Amino acid sequence: MKNHNPTEQITLFSPNTEPEIPKVNTASDEIELVSFRELVPEINDTGYLTHAIFAYPAKFIPQIVRYAITTYTKQGDWIVDPFAGSGTVGVEAYLCKRNAFLLDLNLLLNHIMPLKVYSGKERLHEADLFKLLEGMKESKEQFIPAWSNVAYWYAPEILEILSHYWGFINNTKNSVYCDIIKSGLLKASKRFSYTEDRTPKLARSKRKLKAVEELLKENWREQLDEMVQSLSLKTLKSLNDFVMYTQQHQNDVVPEIHWQGGVDSSYTTVPRACDALITSPPYLQAQEYIRSTKMELFWLGHTEEEVRGLSRLEIPYRKADRIIQTETLDRIREMLTRADLRKRLDSYFCHTVNALENAMSQLKPGAAACIFVGNPRIDGITVELWRILAEYFRERGFMFEKVYEDRIQTRKLFGGRKNKNPDGMKSEFLLILRKRAIYQAAAR
Ligand SMILES: C[S@@+](CC[C@H](N)C(=O)[O-])C[C@H]1O[C@@H](n2cnc3c(N)ncnc32)[C@H](O)[C@@H]1O
Repeated sequence: MKNHNPTEQITLFSPNTEPEIPKVNTASDEIELVSFRELVPEINDTGYLTHAIFAYPAKFIPQIVRYAITTYTKQGDWIVDPFAGSGTVGVEAYLCKRNAFLLDLNLLLNHIMPLKVYSGKERLHEADLFKLLEGMKESKEQFIPAWSNVAYWYAPEILEILSHYWGFINNTKNSVYCDIIKSGLLKASKRFSYTEDRTPKLARSKRKLKAVEELLKENWREQLDEMVQSLSLKTLKSLNDFVMYTQQHQNDVVPEIHWQGGVDSSYTTVPRACDALITSPPYLQAQEYIRSTKMELFWLGHTEEEVRGLSRLEIPYRKADRIIQTETLDRIREMLTRADLRKRLDSYFCHTVNALENAMSQLKPGAAACIFVGNPRIDGITVELWRILAEYFRERGFMFEKVYEDRIQTRKLFGGRKNKNPDGMKSEFLLILRKRAIYQAAAR
């Protein structure tokens, strides 16, 4: 656990030069209505370069991250993201020649990042990929995930073949080609299972059971091979585009991107001073990210014990160990009649604030914290997350700078599925806080 020093003071700037703290509880004139997609027209495809290699629930759209990076940081800066998910901040930081430090509870981050910020200099060759794919198809090795009810999720003949493919990949000397095939196998292992792959949640559906039944009457093995091959090829092309892009734009600058998946940001210290925080915390009525991605985690070799342990730490499905208080939050708490929802609210703010505070305590004076949140509803009550966070941090060494509102028509919550109103939200907000010269770390 991070031990903040409550007397810590950083005095690089003269406190006299600091502007007045704008009031947080003002009307809409401090909210700038924007469309991040329009503000960043150079990105016209949210899945460009390596962004789409892995599916992940509630990803950032890269335009928001790019806007925050170019507006609030400069080349060579260090950016921290304590809720890194699938690493969108890492990819954009790399492309913009910034360094980044990424944390997330989900172990997937450790498997995702080596491909998404691939730092090889040479183009990758299809022939090498095909050789490995051929080896995989002939595989005699076997890998059965350490997952007690794996058989519940697969038709036996499909599980048999997948376990040979994974046996080959997990026993082959690690290489970028191996990682490329893994990314394709992950998607195929979900598609060929009984889980509904159009939603993030792991759930057997009638539709899917029927689809697999139909598939088994067809040339399913060919279809599986075709899917793994075409996904792998697509990833290889994305990586080659990434190599070319970085060669053309970076003039030998190789940004440092560090990541730590499998850590609880609520109690993890960020090991270095940073120039900005850019992050999107989990939703209040969040996806269960670990549960949603456990099929992938098991195939990648993680155990039930690991997965169970991480699930228990997920925000907001755990106990609060302190109660966060702000004017707006206290009002909402009073209005909530259901004890279970009050518990959820307290857990959410306790651990989200802990994680933000750990990371923000490492920001340099004058650095910006860019926090992207929605306006979820709980029991019919709107929870203005940006306002609550602004109120909390304004009392603890940060100035409220501004908030951008992006009116969302639809948001891709997962894969191709569009959700008109995730969590009851109609808008999403990018809150900008600025660290004061004199920073009073919070006492826990
Ligand atoms: C909205 S998602 C972030 C998505 C990310 N911005 C992206 O573009 O992929 C929120 C993340 O918070 C993570 N999370 C939940 N509880 C956590 C905890 N206790 N410590 C660290 N991360 C946690 C989830 O695993 C999830 O990846």
